[in-house]
Amino acid sequence: MNFITLKKNLLRLYHSYTKKHLDKIILSLFLSLVVAGSTAAIAWLLDPAIEKMFINQDTTMMMIIPIAIVIAFACKGLSLYLARVVLIKVGGLIVFTIQKQLASSILTSDIHTLESKHSGQYLSHILFAVGQVNNLVSTGVLNIMKDSLTLIVLVTLMFYQNWKLALFALLMMPLAAFVAKSLGKRIGKATKESLTLNESLTKYLSEMLKGSRMIKIFQQEKFESNRASKILEDNMHIRNKVGFIMIRATPIMELLTGIMIAGFIYYSGFMIMSGEMGINNFFSFLTAMMLAYQPVRSLATINMLFYQGATGAETVFKVLDAEPNIKEIDSYPNLEINKGDIEFKNVSFVYPKTEAEAVKNINISIKGGSTAALVGHSGAGKSTIISLLPRFFDPGEGEIYIDNQNINKVKLSSLRKNISLVSQDIMLFDDTVRANIAYAKLDASEEQIKEACDFAAASDFIEALPKSYETTIGENGIKLSGGQKQRISIARAVLKNSPIILLDEATSSLDSESEEKVQNAIISLTKNKTTLVIAHRLSTIIRADKIFVLNQGKIIDIGTHNELLKNSMIYKNLYSKQLSA
Ligand SMILES: Nc1ncnc2c1ncn2[C@@H]1O[C@H](COP(=O)(O)OP(=O)(O)O)[C@@H](O)[C@H]1O
Ligand SMILES: [Mg+2]
Repeated sequence: MNFITLKKNLLRLYHSYTKKHLDKIILSLFLSLVVAGSTAAIAWLLDPAIEKMFINQDTTMMMIIPIAIVIAFACKGLSLYLARVVLIKVGGLIVFTIQKQLASSILTSDIHTLESKHSGQYLSHILFAVGQVNNLVSTGVLNIMKDSLTLIVLVTLMFYQNWKLALFALLMMPLAAFVAKSLGKRIGKATKESLTLNESLTKYLSEMLKGSRMIKIFQQEKFESNRASKILEDNMHIRNKVGFIMIRATPIMELLTGIMIAGFIYYSGFMIMSGEMGINNFFSFLTAMMLAYQPVRSLATINMLFYQGATGAETVFKVLDAEPNIKEIDSYPNLEINKGDIEFKNVSFVYPKTEAEAVKNINISIKGGSTAALVGHSGAGKSTIISLLPRFFDPGEGEIYIDNQNINKVKLSSLRKNISLVSQDIMLFDDTVRANIAYAKLDASEEQIKEACDFAAASDFIEALPKSYETTIGENGIKLSGGQKQRISIARAVLKNSPIILLDEATSSLDSESEEKVQNAIISLTKNKTTLVIAHRLSTIIRADKIFVLNQGKIIDIGTHNELLKNSMIYKNLYSKQLSA
C-alpha cells in the first residue's frame, strides 16, 4: 500500500468511526499525560534522592523519597490501566459498528456480487480484517499518545540534567526512525498476504465441513488432510514472516542503546571528574535514558500497526463500497397486482463472467391465474428464467412485465412480496420447524402455520417429530429427509400466500406417496394464481395450461401437452425418455 492510500484509509477510518469517540480519546490522552509525567517523576526523584540521602544524609528525605517513588509508580500504573480500558472500549465499539455494516452490506448486496466471492472470504473479512482495525485503535492509538508524551517528558528531563549529554543521546534518534520506516512498508505487504491466506483458510474450512459426507464416500481424507496441511503451512509461514518483521527492530534498537550507554558513560566520566556534573544528575539522567528506551522502541514499530490497520480497513471498505446493482429505489411505485399476467419480451441473459447466453430472446406470456410449465433438458435455461422474475438477476436485453408494469421500474420489495419460490435447493435454518415455516410471515398465528402444513401434506410427519413443531432441524435441515424438507418449503410458500408462484422442481425429492399428497397441495396452492412450474413429472406438466419447450436457452415450441405430443420432436423425446420415468 502506498502512502496516499494509507492516508486515505486512515482518514476515512478516523472520520467514519473514530471521530465519534473523540471525547474518550481525549480522556485517554489526558491519562497518557499522567503516565508520561509519573514516568519522568520516577527518573527525576533519583536526583534529590542521591543528593539529599546519600550525599547530605538527610533523614526526613529518607522517608519522603521512597514514599514519593511508590506514589509515582502507582500513578503510572493506574492511569495506564484506565487509558487502556477506555481505548479497548472504543476499539470494541468500532469493531461492532464495522461488523454491523459489513453484515447489512452483505445482506443487501445482489446475488451477482455475493456469488463472485467465496463465502469464506466474507467470513475472513468480518473476522480478521476487522481485527486488524481493532488492533490499530485499541493498541496503536494509545501507544502513539503515551509513548510520544513519555519520550518528550523524559527528553526534557535529560536536557534539564545535562544538555550536552542529552544532545549526544538525541543524535541516535534519526537512525531509529529510518529503521522503522523501512520495516513499515514490508509489514504492510505481509499483512495483505496474510489476509489473503486467512481467506483461503476460511474458504477451505467451510468446504471441508460442508463436504464431510462426500469426503468419506470418496475416501479422500488423506487428500483433504494434505490440502489442509498445505494451507495451514502457508499460514504458518506468513504468520512467522509478519512476526519476524515485527521484531526485526529489536536487535538494532538494542545495539543502538548499547552504543549510547557506552558512549554516555565514557563522556559523563569526564564531566564528573572535571566537576561539571554532579553524581545525582548522572543517575537521574541515566534512569531517564533507560526509561526512554521502551517508548522509542514502541514508536519505532508503531507505523506497522498503522500499516496493518489501514490494510484491514481497505479490505473492509471494499466490501462496504460495493454498490448493489439490484436494489430498492424508494421513488418507484409499488407493483399493483391485478390478474397477475406475466410477460417476458425478447429477454436475453448472460451470467456474469461467462460467454454464452443462458437464455436467448425469450418471449413468454402467461395469463393471470393460469399455470405454465417450462420443460427441457438440464442446462436448457429453465431455472435461469425463473430467477429473473424476482430479480435475482436482471436480463441483459429485453423486459419483463407483471400486469403491464416493468418489474425493473417498481419497488423491489413490492415485487418480491408478490412472488413465492419453491426451488430444488432448499434453504432451511438451524432452528425449529415452526420458525422455519414462519419465516414467510413472522407474525403468523398458530392456526395459520398449522393450516399451511396441512396444505403442504407436512403436518403428519411434523407431529411425529420428537418435539413436533418445536423440533430443531439442524444445519440446513440435516435431520430431515429430502421430501420432508421440500414439504416444509412448500408450507412456507403456502403461508406467504402470494399471487405468483414459481416452482423449480419443487417435488423432485418426494416419494410417490408424498408426491401425490403434495401434488394435491400444489393444485390447491396454485389455484387462481399465476404459476410458473419446472417439473420432471408428467402429471404436473399435463395439467399446465401452456407448456414452453426450451432447448439451449431458446424457446422452440409452445403448446398444450396434446399439441406438443403431435408437433414437437424434443417434447416427444423428453416425454418418452424422462417424463415417463
Ligand atoms: N450462477 C451461474 N453462473 C454461470 N452460469 C450459470 C449459472 N447458473 C447456470 N448457469 C448456466 O446457465 C445455463 C442454464 O442453466 P439453468 O437455467 O440452471 O438450466 P436448467 O434449470 O434448465 O437445468 C447452463 O448452461 C448453466 O451452465
Ligand atoms: Mg434448473
